[in-house]
Amino acid sequence: MTIATLKKMQADGEKIACLTAYDASFASLQDAAGVDVLLVGDSLGMVLHGDDTTLAVTMTDMIYHTRWVSRACRRAGIISDMPYQSYTTATQALENAKRLVNAGADMVKLEGGATIRAAVKQIAQHDIPVCGHLGLLPQSIHEMGGYRVQARTKATAGTLKQEAMMLQQSGASCLVLECVPARVAAEVTATLNMPVIGIGAGPDCDGQVLVVYDMLGITRRQFKFSRNFLIGKDSIADAFKDYVAAVKNKSFPTAAESYT
Ligand code: KIV
Repeated sequence: MTIATLKKMQADGEKIACLTAYDASFASLQDAAGVDVLLVGDSLGMVLHGDDTTLAVTMTDMIYHTRWVSRACRRAGIISDMPYQSYTTATQALENAKRLVNAGADMVKLEGGATIRAAVKQIAQHDIPVCGHLGLLPQSIHEMGGYRVQARTKATAGTLKQEAMMLQQSGASCLVLECVPARVAAEVTATLNMPVIGIGAGPDCDGQVLVVYDMLGITRRQFKFSRNFLIGKDSIADAFKDYVAAVKNKSFPTAAESYT
């Protein structure tokens, strides 16, 4: 699974199925179920460590989990999150991106818009594929005023569109859009050349991602945009296969699982 494969899927209108993964056992089931991209997300700070935010996650954590996911993965692409404060300068960003690639990542993901432009350019210019992340930014949770839907006004939706284009022009190859109204996500997706993977961003993105614990019902709270794919299944493997099928046949997410 390469950037070229993801771009071809985008061009062919085939939806990209992505899930977070943090260990070899889940990664191997997800890979076998046909999940296209495994995201070693810093959400591990919340779902594995039990923290309320992702802010305490370190590079050591991300390298550790990326290594185990990559060991189990045969087909899927691996995106690893760059954790909080690991890309404050372009030089630091490149050094830390290299460490994630050495651990097995195919692409690294950074949160933010204008403030991360230099970091994105520096990493991309050194041939490490970059995934941007806009909308709700868990690493900026204090500035965002909590976990809430973003880009609801004309002005904030306009800023989001500009930042998405800026990330693409700076060398990003892919974008995660988190918790934005479905119509805003649809417009951003239609404007960009790079694939857009949504979470709580409606049905019109090029792909979907969910936190694996949420979609298995191991969650502190049932999010509107998530679905428990384990209900009615005999195994976790079947839940992963059903998720891939639902993303590909566009039955997930529904309008009721999206924001307006
Ligand atoms: O860390 C993570 O799991 C993420 C997803 C919410 C997209 O970034």
